[in-house]
This record gives sequence, C-alpha cells and structure tokens, in this order.
Amino acid sequence: MKRRAGKRDSFYPGVADVKPENRAQRAEGKSQRWMRSVLLSIFVLVLVPFSLTVLPELIQLLVYTHRIRVPFFVDLSRPSDLSLNHTMNMYLTSEEGISLGVWHTVPESQWKEAQGKDLAWYQNALNDRSPVFIYLHGNMGTRAATHRVGVAKVLSALGYHVLVPDYRGFGDSTGEPTEAGLTTDALYLFNWVKAHSGNSLVIIWGQSLGTGVATNTAVKLVEQGVVCDGVILEATFSSTRQPVTVHPFSWYYWTLPGTGYFFPEPWAENKAVFPSEENLKKMKSPILFLHSEDDPLTPIRFAQQMYEVAVSTQNAERVKLVSFDSSLGYLHNGLYKDPHLPDIIKRFVMSL
Ligand SMILES: *[C@@H]1O[C@H](CO)[C@@H](O)[C@H](O)[C@H]1NC(C)=O
Repeated sequence: MKRRAGKRDSFYPGVADVKPENRAQRAEGKSQRWMRSVLLSIFVLVLVPFSLTVLPELIQLLVYTHRIRVPFFVDLSRPSDLSLNHTMNMYLTSEEGISLGVWHTVPESQWKEAQGKDLAWYQNALNDRSPVFIYLHGNMGTRAATHRVGVAKVLSALGYHVLVPDYRGFGDSTGEPTEAGLTTDALYLFNWVKAHSGNSLVIIWGQSLGTGVATNTAVKLVEQGVVCDGVILEATFSSTRQPVTVHPFSWYYWTLPGTGYFFPEPWAENKAVFPSEENLKKMKSPILFLHSEDDPLTPIRFAQQMYEVAVSTQNAERVKLVSFDSSLGYLHNGLYKDPHLPDIIKRFVMSL
C-alpha cells in the first residue's frame, strides 16, 4: 500500500512522500483555486460584456484608452524636457468649451533661433514655406509618448513643421472623446494651420486609431471642396467595426479565449466606427501607407486591403504602401526608428 501511494504521489514532481495533513491542505488549496477560477470566469464571461452593453462610457474608455496618460510624470507644457527644444506648447479651442493641447515643432535647422521665442514667433514661422505635418496619434497616452516624439523629430530633422495635438479628453485637453469630436478637433487644427501657413504643403499623418481620424478629416475636407495635399496612414485598419476576433483595439479580449461569443457590437451605438475603408473611396489626396509586417495589433493585411481600395479609387501612382520587415521588430509603434524612413517621407513629399 505504501509503495502504491508513493508511486501515485511521484506524479507530482518534487513531491515524493506526502503526509496526510499535507494532502488535506492541498485539497483545500485546490478547491479555493477552483472557486477563484469560477468567479473570475463569471466576471469575465458575463459581467464584462454586460457592462460593455450597458455602459457606453466603458466602451469609450476601452476604444480610446485616453485615461491612461502615458508617459506619466511628463509636464506637457514643457516639451523641451523631451529634447524638443524648438517646440511650442499651445492651446487651441476647437469648439466651445474644448481646449486642445498642441505641440508645434519647427524645422530642426531653426532650433537655435527658436530658443526663448513666443507663440507669435512660432505662428509666424509656420509661414516659411516649409511643408507642415499634422500628426494625429493613436489611442492611449499623450502627445509625449516616445514614438510620437520620435516621429516629430524625424519630420523636424527633414526640415518640416510638425503639429501634434492631443484630442479632446487626451493629455491635458478638455472634454471627452467621441469619433465626431476627434474629427472636429483634427479639422479645426487643419484649418488653423492653413490660416497660418500660406501656400505651404499641409500633410496629415495618422497613426493607428489616428488613421481613422485622418481619413474622416480628409473626407470632411473633400465635402468642403478641399483636397489635403497628402495623407500618411501608419499602422492603419479598415474600420473599428470588425468581428471581435480581428478587432484591432480589443487586445484585452484576445487574451481571454471564448469571450467573443458574448461580446456585443458596441461600436455602432457609441458611434466609434472610423470607416476608413469607405472613406478611402471618397478621398482624393495622394496616400502613403506605412506598416510593419510584425504589427500584432493591426495586422499588415489591413494595410494591403486598404491599399487595394485606394488604388482602385485613385490610381497606383498616387498611392504607395511601404512595409517594414518583421525582422526589424517595429511592431505597432516602432517604425519611426527606421533609418530609411526619412528618405521615404522625403520622396513622398517631393512627389506632392
Ligand atoms: C536642441 O535640439 C537640437 C535638435 O534636436 C539639437 O541638435 C541640440 O543639441 C539641442 N540643444 C540643446 C541645448 O539641447
């Protein structure tokens, strides 16, 4: 008997000889763990989707994740802390009661001249005939996020102006994010830039969720008879209304298998649709798609699909897709690090 018990217990690695009281303890621990898994499953499978259906606010939180103001402990009024020493922090009112925090970085060649200059100098500098980029960032975090600062530095080094807003509800901007609100903010900034930049090229660069804002904005402009000079779509997706398994912003769900069945389709109700694919069919601007092949959040097939739509709407000369090899490891946000990026951007700007 003793031998058999010993044999059975040796199934548990490292437990050769188990005394009766230990066994009882283990059984108790096991049932506690079991209870905990059951409770967690109930929470995940029932309560989370239920809350998502009844609480649009929670959906808003999940889509925009704007409350997570990463990086923490950055003073958004001091971009020079992030070695953006030729950058002005300013606030624009995109709509009554909505104040947007915006960074304006001038071309790097002007960094010395820019020291200690005021808002008026920066606004005046916009009129220096250098191309102007409006960078529309993705969800989560602020305009101070590393990859956003990274893009601003690349563009500034190329001799361009860069304006990076935090949409309503993000960073130190007031209000709450909605799809219409984000589009209004971007459109306002575009018109503001146009009013200050003379005949300079103005290019919109959207990243991730920001590509949805970018295409929305471009279409609004077309409806007003304005064609934006160029649009860059980095890490794009076709629409946020995807089945949950391919939904680009539901990574919190991807890790919880089986939850797709219970997941409602909240995006329509909350008007967070971002119909980029439909938008492309109405757009008239030259477009450059940038995408990493190893992007885990918005797989590259989204960009390929979007590229096809854009080419069939305009033509292959006005639309380009540049992808970055998986071996480079850029994932969703990292392609600003690519040593060829400046050349790629420059060529696109020259073609406009
Ligand atoms: C300011 O920024 C420019 C451009 O990035 C850099 O070359 C320069 O060293 C910086 N100067 C100071 C004092 O930090």
